[in-house]
Amino acid sequence: AGRNIVYYDSVDSTNLRIKQMGDEGAPEGTLAVADKQTAGRGRRGRSWDSPSGSSIYMSLLLRPKIEPDQAPMLTLVMALSVAEGIMDCGDSCGNPDVKIKWPNDIIINGKKLVGILTEMSTQIDYINHVTIGVGINVNLTEFPEEIRETATSLRLECGHVVKRAPLIAAVMKRFEQNYTVFLEHGDLSGLKERYSELLVNKDREVRILGAKEQYNAYALGINQTGELIVRKEDGTEEAVYAGEVSVRGV
Ligand code: BTN
Repeated sequence: AGRNIVYYDSVDSTNLRIKQMGDEGAPEGTLAVADKQTAGRGRRGRSWDSPSGSSIYMSLLLRPKIEPDQAPMLTLVMALSVAEGIMDCGDSCGNPDVKIKWPNDIIINGKKLVGILTEMSTQIDYINHVTIGVGINVNLTEFPEEIRETATSLRLECGHVVKRAPLIAAVMKRFEQNYTVFLEHGDLSGLKERYSELLVNKDREVRILGAKEQYNAYALGINQTGELIVRKEDGTEEAVYAGEVSVRGV
Protein backbone atom coordinates (compact mmCIF):
# COMPACT_ATOMS: atom_id res chain seq x y z
CA ALA A 1 0.00 0.00 0.00
CA GLY A 2 1.10 3.52 -0.59
CA ARG A 3 3.35 2.76 -3.57
CA ASN A 4 1.55 5.12 -5.92
CA ILE A 5 1.63 8.43 -4.05
CA VAL A 6 -0.08 11.64 -5.12
CA TYR A 7 1.04 14.68 -3.16
CA TYR A 8 -0.84 17.98 -2.84
CA ASP A 9 0.32 21.24 -1.28
CA SER A 10 -3.33 22.13 -0.88
CA VAL A 11 -6.45 20.12 -1.69
CA ASP A 12 -10.13 20.15 -0.75
CA SER A 13 -10.05 16.71 0.91
CA THR A 14 -7.74 13.76 0.27
CA ASN A 15 -10.76 11.47 0.75
CA LEU A 16 -12.60 13.23 -2.08
CA ARG A 17 -9.52 13.01 -4.36
CA ILE A 18 -9.06 9.29 -3.68
CA LYS A 19 -12.75 8.57 -4.24
CA GLN A 20 -12.52 10.31 -7.61
CA MET A 21 -9.32 8.46 -8.53
CA GLY A 22 -11.04 5.24 -7.49
CA ASP A 23 -13.97 6.00 -9.79
CA GLU A 24 -11.48 6.66 -12.59
CA GLY A 25 -9.82 3.26 -12.13
CA ALA A 26 -6.71 4.05 -10.05
CA PRO A 27 -5.06 0.92 -8.59
CA GLU A 28 -5.29 -0.38 -5.04
CA GLY A 29 -2.63 1.20 -2.86
CA THR A 30 -2.92 4.67 -4.37
CA LEU A 31 -2.22 7.14 -1.55
CA ALA A 32 -3.08 10.84 -1.51
CA VAL A 33 -1.12 13.01 0.94
CA ALA A 34 -1.72 16.71 1.49
CA ASP A 35 0.05 19.43 3.44
CA LYS A 36 -3.22 21.29 3.82
CA GLN A 37 -6.93 20.62 3.22
CA THR A 38 -9.49 23.32 2.57
CA ALA A 39 -12.51 21.04 3.15
CA GLY A 40 -11.21 18.31 5.46
CA ARG A 41 -14.02 15.97 6.48
CA GLY A 42 -14.59 14.21 9.78
CA ARG A 43 -17.10 11.60 10.80
CA ARG A 44 -20.78 12.37 11.34
CA GLY A 45 -20.65 15.21 8.83
CA ARG A 46 -18.18 17.21 10.88
CA SER A 47 -15.24 19.10 9.42
CA TRP A 48 -11.60 18.28 10.15
CA ASP A 49 -9.42 21.33 10.76
CA SER A 50 -6.50 20.94 8.32
CA PRO A 51 -3.94 23.78 8.42
CA SER A 52 -0.61 23.67 6.55
CA GLY A 53 2.68 22.36 7.92
CA SER A 54 1.45 20.65 11.01
CA SER A 55 -0.35 17.39 10.36
CA ILE A 56 -0.69 14.31 8.24
CA TYR A 57 -3.76 14.22 6.00
CA MET A 58 -3.77 11.12 3.86
CA SER A 59 -6.19 8.75 2.15
CA LEU A 60 -5.61 5.25 0.82
CA LEU A 61 -7.47 3.52 -2.02
CA LEU A 62 -8.34 -0.16 -1.57
CA ARG A 63 -10.12 -2.65 -3.80
CA PRO A 64 -10.70 -5.56 -1.44
CA LYS A 65 -12.61 -8.61 -2.65
CA ILE A 66 -14.90 -8.69 0.36
CA GLU A 67 -18.58 -8.10 1.04
CA PRO A 68 -19.76 -4.55 1.80
CA ASP A 69 -20.63 -5.52 5.37
CA GLN A 70 -16.98 -6.51 5.98
CA ALA A 71 -15.65 -3.09 4.96
CA PRO A 72 -16.10 -1.35 8.34
CA MET A 73 -13.49 -3.75 9.73
CA LEU A 74 -10.90 -2.05 7.52
CA THR A 75 -11.20 1.03 9.72
CA LEU A 76 -10.07 -1.06 12.67
CA VAL A 77 -7.20 -2.50 10.62
CA MET A 78 -6.08 1.06 9.94
CA ALA A 79 -6.50 2.16 13.57
CA LEU A 80 -4.24 -0.69 14.67
CA SER A 81 -1.70 0.17 11.97
CA VAL A 82 -1.56 3.85 12.89
CA ALA A 83 -1.06 3.06 16.59
CA GLU A 84 1.71 0.58 15.73
CA GLY A 85 3.30 2.95 13.20
CA ILE A 86 3.49 5.75 15.76
CA MET A 87 5.10 3.42 18.28
CA ASP A 88 7.55 2.04 15.66
CA CYS A 89 8.76 5.58 14.98
CA GLY A 90 9.40 6.23 18.63
CA ASP A 91 7.21 9.27 18.14
CA SER A 92 5.21 8.17 21.12
CA CYS A 93 8.31 9.37 23.01
CA GLY A 94 8.76 6.03 24.68
CA ASN A 95 5.35 6.72 26.14
CA PRO A 96 3.33 3.51 26.20
CA ASP A 97 0.11 5.44 26.36
CA VAL A 98 -0.76 5.39 22.62
CA LYS A 99 -4.11 3.63 22.72
CA ILE A 100 -7.05 2.84 20.47
CA LYS A 101 -10.44 4.18 21.40
CA TRP A 102 -12.83 1.68 19.85
CA PRO A 103 -13.63 1.62 17.06
CA ASN A 104 -11.27 4.02 15.32
CA ASP A 105 -9.72 6.90 17.22
CA ILE A 106 -6.16 6.95 18.54
CA ILE A 107 -5.72 8.47 21.97
CA ILE A 108 -2.54 9.60 23.70
CA ASN A 109 -2.63 10.55 27.36
CA GLY A 110 -6.39 10.56 27.19
CA LYS A 111 -6.69 13.00 24.28
CA LYS A 112 -7.50 12.41 20.61
CA LEU A 113 -4.47 12.24 18.31
CA VAL A 114 -5.85 10.56 15.18
CA GLY A 115 -9.16 10.36 13.35
CA ILE A 116 -10.07 7.89 10.60
CA LEU A 117 -12.85 8.25 8.04
CA THR A 118 -13.67 5.26 5.81
CA GLU A 119 -15.92 5.69 2.79
CA MET A 120 -17.10 2.94 0.50
CA SER A 121 -18.26 2.99 -3.09
CA THR A 122 -20.46 0.08 -4.11
CA GLN A 123 -21.96 -1.14 -7.36
CA ILE A 124 -25.14 -3.10 -6.70
CA ASP A 125 -23.90 -5.65 -4.13
CA TYR A 126 -20.18 -5.34 -4.79
CA ILE A 127 -17.50 -3.08 -3.39
CA ASN A 128 -16.08 -0.92 -6.12
CA HIS A 129 -13.51 0.71 -3.86
CA VAL A 130 -12.87 1.79 -0.29
CA THR A 131 -11.21 5.05 0.79
CA ILE A 132 -9.58 5.15 4.20
CA GLY A 133 -8.72 8.69 5.30
CA VAL A 134 -6.35 9.29 8.20
CA GLY A 135 -5.72 12.57 9.98
CA ILE A 136 -2.81 12.54 12.47
CA ASN A 137 -2.19 15.61 14.61
CA VAL A 138 1.59 15.76 14.29
CA ASN A 139 2.87 19.28 14.97
CA LEU A 140 -0.36 21.15 15.62
CA THR A 141 -0.18 23.37 18.68
CA GLU A 142 -3.55 25.07 18.45
CA PHE A 143 -7.00 23.60 18.01
CA PRO A 144 -10.43 25.01 17.32
CA GLU A 145 -12.33 26.02 20.45
CA GLU A 146 -14.72 23.02 20.40
CA ILE A 147 -11.93 20.44 20.63
CA ARG A 148 -9.29 22.37 22.61
CA GLU A 149 -9.84 20.27 25.73
CA THR A 150 -10.05 16.91 24.00
CA ALA A 151 -7.45 17.00 21.17
CA THR A 152 -3.68 16.85 21.21
CA SER A 153 -0.68 16.36 18.89
CA LEU A 154 2.55 14.37 18.92
CA ARG A 155 4.47 17.61 19.29
CA LEU A 156 2.48 18.64 22.35
CA GLU A 157 2.88 15.22 23.94
CA CYS A 158 6.54 14.70 22.97
CA GLY A 159 7.75 18.27 23.36
CA HIS A 160 9.48 18.38 19.99
CA VAL A 161 8.71 18.67 16.28
CA VAL A 162 8.04 15.29 14.67
CA LYS A 163 8.91 14.49 11.02
CA ARG A 164 5.92 13.45 8.94
CA ALA A 165 7.44 11.36 6.10
CA PRO A 166 8.92 8.55 8.26
CA LEU A 167 5.65 8.33 10.15
CA ILE A 168 3.62 7.94 6.95
CA ALA A 169 6.03 5.19 5.82
CA ALA A 170 5.79 3.38 9.17
CA VAL A 171 1.98 3.46 9.16
CA MET A 172 1.80 2.21 5.56
CA LYS A 173 4.25 -0.62 6.28
CA ARG A 174 2.15 -1.79 9.22
CA PHE A 175 -1.06 -1.42 7.22
CA GLU A 176 0.32 -3.55 4.39
CA GLN A 177 1.12 -6.36 6.85
CA ASN A 178 -2.15 -6.09 8.75
CA TYR A 179 -4.24 -5.83 5.56
CA THR A 180 -2.67 -9.07 4.30
CA VAL A 181 -3.61 -10.82 7.57
CA PHE A 182 -7.13 -9.35 7.34
CA LEU A 183 -7.64 -10.60 3.78
CA GLU A 184 -6.35 -14.09 4.66
CA HIS A 185 -9.07 -14.51 7.29
CA GLY A 186 -11.73 -12.25 5.84
CA ASP A 187 -12.12 -10.83 9.33
CA LEU A 188 -10.11 -9.59 12.32
CA SER A 189 -9.36 -12.98 13.87
CA GLY A 190 -5.62 -12.59 13.21
CA LEU A 191 -5.53 -9.04 14.59
CA LYS A 192 -8.05 -8.90 17.42
CA GLU A 193 -5.58 -9.86 20.17
CA ARG A 194 -3.19 -7.02 19.36
CA TYR A 195 -6.01 -4.58 18.79
CA SER A 196 -7.57 -5.51 22.14
CA GLU A 197 -4.23 -5.05 23.94
CA LEU A 198 -4.13 -1.47 22.74
CA LEU A 199 -7.70 -0.69 23.66
CA VAL A 200 -7.94 2.37 25.91
CA ASN A 201 -11.20 1.09 27.40
CA LYS A 202 -9.88 -2.39 28.13
CA ASP A 203 -10.93 -3.71 31.53
CA ARG A 204 -12.35 -0.30 32.32
CA GLU A 205 -15.89 0.66 33.00
CA VAL A 206 -17.62 2.19 30.01
CA ARG A 207 -21.10 3.48 29.38
CA ILE A 208 -22.80 2.00 26.34
CA LEU A 209 -25.05 4.51 24.64
CA GLY A 210 -27.33 2.56 22.33
CA ALA A 211 -30.42 3.68 20.49
CA LYS A 212 -32.65 1.53 22.71
CA GLU A 213 -30.78 1.12 25.97
CA GLN A 214 -27.93 2.60 27.96
CA TYR A 215 -25.92 0.76 30.57
CA ASN A 216 -22.53 0.52 32.27
CA ALA A 217 -20.24 -2.38 31.45
CA TYR A 218 -16.61 -3.48 31.38
CA ALA A 219 -14.91 -3.48 27.97
CA LEU A 220 -13.07 -6.77 27.43
CA GLY A 221 -11.79 -6.52 23.85
CA ILE A 222 -13.02 -6.98 20.30
CA ASN A 223 -14.24 -10.09 18.52
CA GLN A 224 -13.34 -11.19 14.99
CA THR A 225 -15.86 -8.87 13.36
CA GLY A 226 -14.72 -5.85 15.33
CA GLU A 227 -17.59 -5.67 17.78
CA LEU A 228 -16.72 -4.55 21.30
CA ILE A 229 -17.20 -7.33 23.84
CA VAL A 230 -18.43 -6.01 27.16
CA ARG A 231 -19.33 -7.65 30.47
CA LYS A 232 -22.50 -6.26 31.93
CA GLU A 233 -23.12 -5.73 35.62
CA ASP A 234 -25.15 -8.97 35.77
CA GLY A 235 -22.07 -10.87 34.55
CA THR A 236 -23.31 -11.64 31.04
CA GLU A 237 -21.23 -10.74 28.02
CA GLU A 238 -22.49 -8.88 25.02
CA ALA A 239 -20.97 -7.81 21.69
CA VAL A 240 -21.84 -4.26 20.68
CA TYR A 241 -21.70 -3.05 17.12
CA ALA A 242 -20.02 0.27 16.32
CA GLY A 243 -22.79 1.52 14.07
CA GLU A 244 -25.34 1.18 16.85
CA VAL A 245 -23.67 2.45 19.98
CA SER A 246 -21.10 4.88 21.18
CA VAL A 247 -18.94 4.29 24.21
CA ARG A 248 -17.97 6.74 26.92
CA GLY A 249 -15.47 6.21 29.68
CA VAL A 250 -17.17 6.39 33.08
C1 BTN B 1 -12.90 11.83 12.54
O1 BTN B 1 -13.90 12.56 12.54
O2 BTN B 1 -12.41 11.42 13.59
C2 BTN B 1 -12.27 11.42 11.23
C3 BTN B 1 -11.33 12.47 10.68
C4 BTN B 1 -10.65 12.06 9.38
C5 BTN B 1 -9.75 13.15 8.81
C6 BTN B 1 -8.95 12.71 7.63
S1 BTN B 1 -7.72 13.88 7.16
C7 BTN B 1 -7.43 13.01 5.66
C8 BTN B 1 -8.77 12.53 5.15
N1 BTN B 1 -9.40 13.54 4.31
C9 BTN B 1 -10.51 14.04 4.89
O3 BTN B 1 -11.21 14.94 4.40
N2 BTN B 1 -10.74 13.44 6.06
C10 BTN B 1 -9.73 12.42 6.34
